[in-house]
Amino acid sequence: MTTRRKLIVTGANGFVAGSVVAQAGEEWQVHAVSRGEPLLRRDQLSWHTFDTESPEALTRLFLEVKPDALIHTAAMADIDFCQTHRESAYAVNVGLTRTLVDLCRATGAKLVFCSTDTVFDGEHAPYGEDAQPGPINFYAETKVAAEQAVACLGAQAVIARLSLVIGLPVLGAGNSFLARMIASFTDGRAVAVPEHEVRTPVDVITVGRALLELAAGRHHGIFHLAGHDRLSRFAMAQRIAARFGFAKELVLAQAVATAAGRAARPRDVALRNAKAGAELETPMRTLDEGLSLILKMSETPVL
Ligand SMILES: NC(=O)c1ccc[n+]([C@@H]2O[C@H](COP(=O)([O-])OP(=O)(O)OC[C@H]3O[C@@H](n4cnc5c(N)ncnc54)[C@H](OP(=O)(O)O)[C@@H]3O)[C@@H](O)[C@H]2O)c1
Repeated sequence: MTTRRKLIVTGANGFVAGSVVAQAGEEWQVHAVSRGEPLLRRDQLSWHTFDTESPEALTRLFLEVKPDALIHTAAMADIDFCQTHRESAYAVNVGLTRTLVDLCRATGAKLVFCSTDTVFDGEHAPYGEDAQPGPINFYAETKVAAEQAVACLGAQAVIARLSLVIGLPVLGAGNSFLARMIASFTDGRAVAVPEHEVRTPVDVITVGRALLELAAGRHHGIFHLAGHDRLSRFAMAQRIAARFGFAKELVLAQAVATAAGRAARPRDVALRNAKAGAELETPMRTLDEGLSLILKMSETPVL
């Protein structure tokens, strides 16, 4: 009988976690952790619904499952919401991560933590893994604090800094700006997109595969999971509109300074992806390659 490795995935209702859970192969017994009800039932998948901020419940889960690895995606990831709800953002993004670091330390499980390109200040791009974080909003501050906690695990942990993740949700709804954009275009509504924010977008299918590879392998330290193309969100949206067959006039340039109530965003947080390219079998991709993968997966679901 094959002994499968055991993987816990937090935030299982989320956009990135959906891609991880859906793509986890034969080698894994997956334990999806969520505040929500199961999105998927299949062999080799156990769904655990509870208040994921409860250290007691997480401790019970770790004792029961004895995981080999944990992919920690759960976070309060809405930058503007975090800016105005600091206590709860800190509790989830830092407090929950610290609890999981302690549980991994106690059990020997490998931790793969999802961080963000926005830990950087946006004035010194492109950023390699060694670059110094310089958060300019509260969400990014919580992610830097969480990275520091994870780094204490040394060779037992990976910090995966994700660039802007594009894609259609693989499971559930999740935080997919692409799905929202396409819904607006389909209704004939234009979408305003910041013209001065530069990113290196990466597709959600590639991110899911890379996170699974990082969980399975001997990798440790920081990895940037980012696409090959460095472009503004405006240019990105125009390319997406064209690729999905919509008029580029549906994409409006938005001057960031005029958007009321919006937390500060770094100007250019392009990530260098050479380390992922050299050390991972999962290839990083161009925007067009990523969009092709997304379209292919939406026609032939991974499930
Ligand atoms: N999407 C991107 O472009 C992007 C870019 C850089 C970094 N990241 C990072 O990647 C990770 C995944 O992002 P995502 O896009 O998948 O986000 P998402 O779709 O919003 O999913 C995050 C999940 O975290 C859990 N969560 C949210 N609020 C919570 C709370 N108050 N208490 C406990 N759990 C809570 C939820 O899972 P349940 O409902 O299942 O409990 C939620 O579905 C995050 O750590 C994010 O910071 C994402």
